[in-house]
Amino acid sequence: MKVAVPKELQEGENRVALIPDACAKLKKAGIDVVIQEGAGLASSHTDHEYTEAGATVESDASTLWANADIVVKVAPPNVDSAGQNEIEMVKSGGVLITFLDPLTEFDRLRKLAAKQVTAVSMEMIPRITRAQSMDALSSMANIAGYKAVLLAATHLPKIFPMMMTAAGTISPAKVFVIGAGVAGLQAIATAKRLGAVVSGYDVRPAVREQVESLGGKFVEMELATGGAEDKGGYAKEMGDEFIRKQREMMTKVVAEHDVVITTAAIPGKKSPVLITADMVKVMPEGSVIIDLAAERGGNCELTQCDKTIVEHGVTIMGPSNLPGTVPFHSSQMYSKNIQTLLLHLVKDGSLNLDMDDEITAGCVVTTRGEVVHPRIRELMQLPELKKPEPAAAESQPVSESSKSSEGDKS
Ligand code: NAI
Repeated sequence: MKVAVPKELQEGENRVALIPDACAKLKKAGIDVVIQEGAGLASSHTDHEYTEAGATVESDASTLWANADIVVKVAPPNVDSAGQNEIEMVKSGGVLITFLDPLTEFDRLRKLAAKQVTAVSMEMIPRITRAQSMDALSSMANIAGYKAVLLAATHLPKIFPMMMTAAGTISPAKVFVIGAGVAGLQAIATAKRLGAVVSGYDVRPAVREQVESLGGKFVEMELATGGAEDKGGYAKEMGDEFIRKQREMMTKVVAEHDVVITTAAIPGKKSPVLITADMVKVMPEGSVIIDLAAERGGNCELTQCDKTIVEHGVTIMGPSNLPGTVPFHSSQMYSKNIQTLLLHLVKDGSLNLDMDDEITAGCVVTTRGEVVHPRIRELMQLPELKKPEPAAAESQPVSESSKSSEGDKS
């Protein structure tokens, strides 16, 4: 089983899908890693480190893709400087594991399905205990929450901690984090460590305890929030009336804070606008908004994705790839996610697609020429797929090793 790691093509993408340590562990499990020359350099891993760990290095991207059973990546397929599209480079019938944006980028999925590619989406790893070490959305959100606070701290014309000095007393900065999921909780913890006074808010009242356990104050807004969470533990889209009332109450809170970090996202949907232009106007001069939801339109009405703007004296930043700015550790975490997933999907040297397994069924989005993920099929307005009869399933190429699937159900 050969797993290939191409060099990432997307601008600002400094992560690599597997670090040397993971290559050594995979080798022990009978999985050989081939890395594209220089693929780890942006995250501080030399080719030499990879060869020391038992991986081989390939200089030509086309050869790398053509000879791989499985290709693992960070960013969705892209086009290289020679104009080669990674979707065209992936071998017909091969496997591609990466972030794919599958809830919106349907055309990409159609192309992968047409090439009989088994595409595994890192966004779709279910948020269940058994899959925690594969959950790349969480590991990357953790990094983003941390880095968002550092960005805010460097752009704020104030310091975060309280200081009592001979030159006077400095009061601590006030940080407000909206959305206390993975990124939000890490932002709260980081801002607290830097000495700020931190408040957090979320539509899910259940997170109050988590905010408080990190030393943050939970901001109470008297709004009916029943059913804010879906079955997968992600936030559901709230109604217009809810959002209107929420903005009204939020205006007062925002006006009292130096930094606002927004992380409110609903997977596959446009981010709800929680901070309007009018709310920005009431923020103190020099204050900073870091909008982590910028890629899907942003939680602040004025956010421009990947830009820093100053409006009404407030600096508004909408970075879309903060994990890419801390590539050493984000690659370490992502690589661990990929390594665990590979060991889950590969049994006895071949791919074992047990679609009865919650993790596999959750993250495999295309296989056998079809988009197979029920939720994505629904979004693409495709009819429900009939489950293949057991006999028919065995004749499919991807289930060649289904004999070993039983052991994975524990
Ligand atoms: P999550 O799903 O764990 O957390 C989002 C939180 O927002 C949930 O707790 C949810 O209840 C809350 N929320 C949703 N609607 C809300 C509303 N109207 N008001 C208040 N709270 C609301 O998501 P996670 O993993 O923490 O990611 C958060 C965001 O960070 C996502 O938008 C994700 O795409 C983004 N992200 C950004 C990165 C970057 O570099 N910009 C990197 C990684 C993640």
